[in-house]
Amino acid sequence: MPTRSPDPSSQSADKLLAVLSITQKLNAERDLAALLTTIAREAARLLDAELASLFLLDAQRGELWSKVTLDTDETLRFDARQGIAGEALRTGQIVRVDDVSRDHRFFSGVDQRTGHTTHSVMALPLRNLRGEDVGVFEVLNKRRGAFTDEDVELARLLASQMTIALETTQLLGDLRRDHDALLANSAHLWKEVEGRFATDRILGTSAKIAEVVRLIGQVADSSASVLITGESGTGKELAAKAIHYNSPRARRPLVALNCAALPEALVESELFGIEKGVATGVESRVGKFEAAHQATLLLDEIGDLSLTAQSKLLRVLQERVLERVGGRRAIPVDVRVLAATNKNLAAAVRAGAFREDLFYRLNVVQLHMPPLREIREDIPLLAKSYLAQHCAEQNRPPPEFSAGALACLTNYRWPGNVRELGNEMKRLAVTVPRDRIDAADLSDLIRAGDLQQPPQTGPRLKDAVAQLERRMIETALAQCRHNQQQAARALGLSRQGLIKKLKRYGVANRPE
Ligand SMILES: Nc1ncnc2c1ncn2[C@@H]1O[C@H](COP(=O)(O)OP(=O)(O)OP(=O)(O)O)[C@@H](O)[C@H]1O
Ligand SMILES: [Mg+2]
Repeated sequence: MPTRSPDPSSQSADKLLAVLSITQKLNAERDLAALLTTIAREAARLLDAELASLFLLDAQRGELWSKVTLDTDETLRFDARQGIAGEALRTGQIVRVDDVSRDHRFFSGVDQRTGHTTHSVMALPLRNLRGEDVGVFEVLNKRRGAFTDEDVELARLLASQMTIALETTQLLGDLRRDHDALLANSAHLWKEVEGRFATDRILGTSAKIAEVVRLIGQVADSSASVLITGESGTGKELAAKAIHYNSPRARRPLVALNCAALPEALVESELFGIEKGVATGVESRVGKFEAAHQATLLLDEIGDLSLTAQSKLLRVLQERVLERVGGRRAIPVDVRVLAATNKNLAAAVRAGAFREDLFYRLNVVQLHMPPLREIREDIPLLAKSYLAQHCAEQNRPPPEFSAGALACLTNYRWPGNVRELGNEMKRLAVTVPRDRIDAADLSDLIRAGDLQQPPQTGPRLKDAVAQLERRMIETALAQCRHNQQQAARALGLSRQGLIKKLKRYGVANRPE
């Protein structure tokens, strides 16, 4: 017979309070191993026992296992049908034994492994809300006397709370595993993304593009601010992506804010976010700075930011802390800032339209994207690459360029830079079904080449023509791998005629 505890009711209330406080601790645990330790320690204390252990059922293997006991953190495993725990699991009943030496159901294997000597034991089966067996809760060796009915009730209360806590942690564990699996899965996608924006997406072999690529490689690793300058369509955004996706921040997003499209009244909430209820109906919103925490923020068209907005931006850059609109909390942020502009910011500073202190903060490193007319040697490569890309989208092999067409492309001024070149190639991929693109296929302006845009220095017509002629010859030669016969034919000249011009212009007469 179990002994009835003579505890007055106030002591019972204390114990219930203790159960409640254990329950709270259980609910706070998010990690299975930590949960098991907490259970074992707290339950043993509450029930005045030497040891408490939670055995989980491995239904597939038909085994009970425990990762943590009070004194050891070895993993124990045994046949789920064995011992007093097995009996509790099998019958679904609480089993209480005051002296195990006299109980044939007792399995001594666990004692042998743990080095403990079990005298008395209380085993409670654990079932989840769906009625499935999940394990057994065992309390060993009551310190004084035997386990009482009240101990059984307390243990039962604990056991039901444990089951819920276990379910939660296991669910969380599953979620975490799913999450990890997703992360692992996305790792190769990341590789692809990184590949797409790696510096090798920036095409060009000219010295100026090589310098751009070198500088990106040099600054990517740091968190230094970079001011990316260049005309429209020169690849400023492409460069920003290359910096971000080559930096240690690459796994987090590149957040972009177009400062030109930002109405003055929204600047602050866009940059720093807003707290709920600042005005009627306003929901709280995270700003771009917070969204770019531990990542990169691209402030595009920074030259269009108003002076008021500039001073707000400067403060965050200096203090690395922000406050949401209507918020009182200072939120620390770790953001790498890239700024892009097609304006001359230094001139804007001189004109008083751009804050000098902000300019220096942003311009730690300056990356200048050259206009296409300054990297004419890259035009054939860029044109072919874009043409191939757009033709692939149409499932057709890319056509070749005639030397005349290439000469026009190389000589055109390209005010819209690489973007304009890309658009022209897209148009050609659609409008020229043949396997060769001739000068006549090009857009009018491009076909007219430099002749449409007389050089600004205003040389004489003869010089301008000579300049054009020389460029066309160089391009044709490059295209024909310095086969003079072919180059001459492409240019509509005799071979002798070409050689004469080569001499006149001093073009290197490379072997074929
Ligand atoms: N060197 C390059 N190699 C390959 N593609 C390029 C290069 N430069 C620019 N591009 C392409 O040209 C297009 C325009 O580039 P991007 O949008 O980066 O220009 P931008 O300087 O930001 O222009 P804007 O000032 O108008 O915003 C994009 O499709 C980009 O991929
Ligand atoms: Mg841009």
